[in-house]
Amino acid sequence: MSCSNVIGGDGLRYWRRILGVGLVWLCVGAESRQEALGSGVDLSVCGTCHGLAGEGNQALDAPGLANLETWYVERQLRGFREGFRGTDSRDVEGTQMRPFVLGLDDTAIAGMAAAVAAYPDSAATAYEGGDAERGRILYGHQCGACHGPSGSGNQHLGAPRLAGLDGWYLDRQLVKFTEGVRGSAEGDAHGAQMVFVMQRIASPADAADVIAYLVNARSEGSP
Ligand code: HEC
Ligand code: HEC
Repeated sequence: MSCSNVIGGDGLRYWRRILGVGLVWLCVGAESRQEALGSGVDLSVCGTCHGLAGEGNQALDAPGLANLETWYVERQLRGFREGFRGTDSRDVEGTQMRPFVLGLDDTAIAGMAAAVAAYPDSAATAYEGGDAERGRILYGHQCGACHGPSGSGNQHLGAPRLAGLDGWYLDRQLVKFTEGVRGSAEGDAHGAQMVFVMQRIASPADAADVIAYLVNARSEGSP
């Protein structure tokens, strides 16, 4: 049985959350861990949670990385390292992610971000619920000015690509921004914009509609 089977099995969610990070470290072993941290381009440690092609693993709460851009990944990895992300005591998933970047210097982070961006794009997991057509209109009014047409992203504004991200992950991030679990750390100017924006989303149903649109935006071939 592989390590990912052990970690991703049907065991109780509670125990997985407590044991997950430790199991990953035990599974990858000291040697490959050093290689990953030293070269900056070996993503085998990351793949233990995010999938070997960056396709994500919902059972581990680890999002797909395949559709993300270099500049955004680099900023997020720095953010985890510097404590903009993954330090709030309510941020269960961010807390699991953070240890894996704490030992990285800027060069290693830049190398990892480039390697993550080189994953071939992958399809988002299916998202149940939400009205994609209503979401398209809401997106145009409330999101597109920053995140670009069809969720394509806008580096100049620091707003990442959203098209093709997993619906379950988008949903969780919007909840985190709404509750200030993400975006409230001192100095997190980019995250703070999203906390502000989420105050304008009227209801969870609105968020579900926007997510249904974004997941579909990719399968329609856009951006
Ligand atoms: C123990 C499992 C685990 C490992 C190992 C891991 N991650 Fe993560 N990672 C997560 C989880 C869980 C999240 C989601 C955090 C959240 O929901 O806020 C995440 C989030 C991320 C994000 C943010 C994605 C986004 O859209 O903002 C990036 C980028 C990322 N990880 C890259 C990496 C890289 C690169 C490595 C290897 C150095 C790695 N991860 C190792 C579990 C892991
Ligand atoms: C004022 C500009 C702005 C607007 C408007 C905006 N965003 Fe964002 N959004 C950002 C920025 C900047 C980030 C990057 C935050 C970070 O670096 O942590 C972001 C991040 C996100 C993320 C996290 C992506 C990831 O991979 O973790 C999601 C999800 C998101 N926005 C959804 C939305 C939705 C849905 C709307 C419309 C309701 C919206 N945003 C409107 C600027 C904006």
